[in-house]
Amino acid sequence: MSTYMQMVSSQGCDASVLLESTEGNVAEKDAKPNKSLRGFGSVERVKAKLEAACPGVVSCADVLTLMSRDAVVLAKGPSWPVALGRRDGRVSSAAEASSQLPPASGDVPLLAKIFASKGLGLKDLVVLSGAHTLGTAHCPSFVDRLYNTTDGLVDPSLDSEYADKLRLKCRSVDDRAMLSEMDPGSFKTFDTSYYRHVAKRRGLFRSDAALLFDADTRDYVQRIATGKFDAEFFRDFSASMTKMGDVGVLTGTQGEIRKKCYALN
Ligand code: HEM
Repeated sequence: MSTYMQMVSSQGCDASVLLESTEGNVAEKDAKPNKSLRGFGSVERVKAKLEAACPGVVSCADVLTLMSRDAVVLAKGPSWPVALGRRDGRVSSAAEASSQLPPASGDVPLLAKIFASKGLGLKDLVVLSGAHTLGTAHCPSFVDRLYNTTDGLVDPSLDSEYADKLRLKCRSVDDRAMLSEMDPGSFKTFDTSYYRHVAKRRGLFRSDAALLFDADTRDYVQRIATGKFDAEFFRDFSASMTKMGDVGVLTGTQGEIRKKCYALN
């Protein structure tokens, strides 16, 4: 379920990430950073029910935004009101997605720049990274921290005991089968333990670990990691998700309301 939160499109919140590639167009979903996205079938099933009950009214972009919120609620996280009326985009480009999605290897300056290009700030970055309290990742997303191919050293920002554990899971740099939780111990529950892992240098991606290197994001990580400010994090997360859900929204006569989420009308 949590995977819907990951379905952020480079076009903004217009469900372009759900479109299939066609002859002559490689869609976002086939861009390398999106290869691990899953759950498209569930979105299609929800949309089919809506179309049967009330055709041409609820866009795929609204469906995806609601499913993301509900995934968080089902995982015992916060809830927030979702304003509706988004329309679906007609453009989906793998090249654009590859160049605009934040890389797992990113440091705070790079991630902040990518977030800023969507109108999101440093606070949104450290708060929304908290979504990694849910879900799993494939070895290629972090294996470069475990086996440094150039000088034989592992990433010094990663706790060495934790690195040993991860190496047992990802046996080689080419391991594509194994999955690791970003928030081991409670990866199906939306809580603040992600921040406790990051604070102990056990963030899974470089992008998670990087939050400890910037003074502003470090303060937030350490504050939420205490476990005394869970309600504050829940409020912050709701606010940042609402903000992200407004990025690049199409309204009025822009775009369309797709009949099927995987194809243009
Ligand atoms: C700060 C920049 C971010 C980076 C660099 C990043 C990177 C990644 C990577 C590399 C994966 C694992 C892919 C794989 O190996 O299977 C992942 C998973 C995930 N991300 Fe992020 N992410 C970021 C921000 C976000 C945001 C803003 C959200 C939502 C609010 C989010 C939600 C998720 C979720 C829920 C998963 C797990 C999906 C699953 O279990 O299949 N991430 N992210």
